[in-house]
Amino acid sequence: MKTIKIGLLGMGNIGTGTYKALEMNREEIEANVNAKVEIVKILEKDVTRDRGIEVPAEKFTQNPDDIFNDPEIDIVIELLGGIEPAATFIETAMNNGKHVVTANKAAVAANYPRLTECAKKNNVRFNYEASVGGAIPILTSLKDTVRANKYTEVLGIVNGTTNYILHMMGTEGISYEEALKDAQERGFAEADPTADVEGIDAANKLSILIALMFGKYIHPNDIPTTGITEITQEKIAEAKENDCVIKLIAHATLKDDGELEYEVRPTYIRTYHPLAGVLAEFNAVYIKANLVGKLMFYGPGAGPLPTASAVLGDVMEIARTAMK
Ligand code: HSE
Repeated sequence: MKTIKIGLLGMGNIGTGTYKALEMNREEIEANVNAKVEIVKILEKDVTRDRGIEVPAEKFTQNPDDIFNDPEIDIVIELLGGIEPAATFIETAMNNGKHVVTANKAAVAANYPRLTECAKKNNVRFNYEASVGGAIPILTSLKDTVRANKYTEVLGIVNGTTNYILHMMGTEGISYEEALKDAQERGFAEADPTADVEGIDAANKLSILIALMFGKYIHPNDIPTTGITEITQEKIAEAKENDCVIKLIAHATLKDDGELEYEVRPTYIRTYHPLAGVLAEFNAVYIKANLVGKLMFYGPGAGPLPTASAVLGDVMEIARTAMK
């Protein structure tokens, strides 16, 4: 039986979750792709951290070239986070003939044309399902399953940390700071939560959704973005009085004249709207399209194992379709 060899860049929360998830579900995964799947090398400085899982010390390296130049490695999974050096590493891996899987929305959104072109040029796969909506199979659906539609609008709750904070402020009456600390402890928030609470993470994800749905690349810095740092208990109470909840919404709409409007901002959502029922760290992407009408994708949008589910799904898709 063939062995699919993987090089993993980064073993933080999501890297550890991916390693664990492969150990947990190895039997199902290998039976499905009809091959053994092994993470053979891991780029990571912190070798001694207790990850709650045994990782043989010899798998760790501090030199990315050990992965890029290893002819045995078929797929590189990039889970470093941040734009650089992640984007350059993704490109180097593809230039070395490796398929790449990433969950890194910041690196994908900031470099979408460059990275997708690089994959085409090298005739390798570049899969990034986990970069938007965590475990929710949204990008594959938009690219394939629902692609027969003309898309007109997307409204996304695509940041688990801010949804969790707004939910806890609204239901438990706890402060913004308490809710943020809780989200960080649960492993939803970015290492620096500024990207979450300022809406930057949501803008990265909206940039990727726009590219897939509307075929236009909008750099995340060009998306008007307002985060949740100014949301107070008073504003939440005011929304309640109007039968609404406040959600951080990533929104893009294609107007009749063909102009695309886009924005990330805290938005009043009527309590009867499906997006109002998206609680805690859950994410949802609600689309309008001419054949399906309205369609909502819902699920866990953050956290190590849900994100690992999408990462490994991407690996399996490559194994089935590009490595037969
Ligand atoms: N910090 C992100 C969130 C992680 O809270 O949604 C998933 O992209």
